[in-house]
Amino acid sequence: MKGATVVPVRLLAAARKVRRHAHAPYSKFFVGAAVVDERGRVHVGCNVENASYGLTVCAERNAVAAAVAAGARSVKAIVVVTNAAPPASPCGACRQVLAEFGADALTVTLAAPTGKVLRTVRLADLLPERFVLAEGGAR
Ligand code: THU
Repeated sequence: MKGATVVPVRLLAAARKVRRHAHAPYSKFFVGAAVVDERGRVHVGCNVENASYGLTVCAERNAVAAAVAAGARSVKAIVVVTNAAPPASPCGACRQVLAEFGADALTVTLAAPTGKVLRTVRLADLLPERFVLAEGGAR
């Protein structure tokens, strides 16, 4: 099928596995994310909540941070696992963070804890006009 994306099995498996480590005692909404970098390496993140709610960090951003800390320069794809129906899509902040490290073609795959893939979409479709710093930076 033209345009179909095959989600690497190990990316999906990694996102499902790390979801079990989510620290979500307040929302009880557990999220696992796994990204694949330009070298084919997989990095994972889960959501980490805090008693001071606003300090919560999403799974997607934690996965990107882990990738960057491991020396990754770009992200090719992300798999996000939640038990939401319809599947939860990355929040606006996470979309902008993904855009920093992913080309327009970065694919976002939403999957269930069972491993069922529910949707795959391009980041460019989720965030059509990402913020980019003007040439020469802010003035
Ligand atoms: N959450 C994520 O991890 N990713 C998202 O894209 C949206 C929301 C987390 C944050 C919080 O721990 C819980 O889900 C409920 O908002």
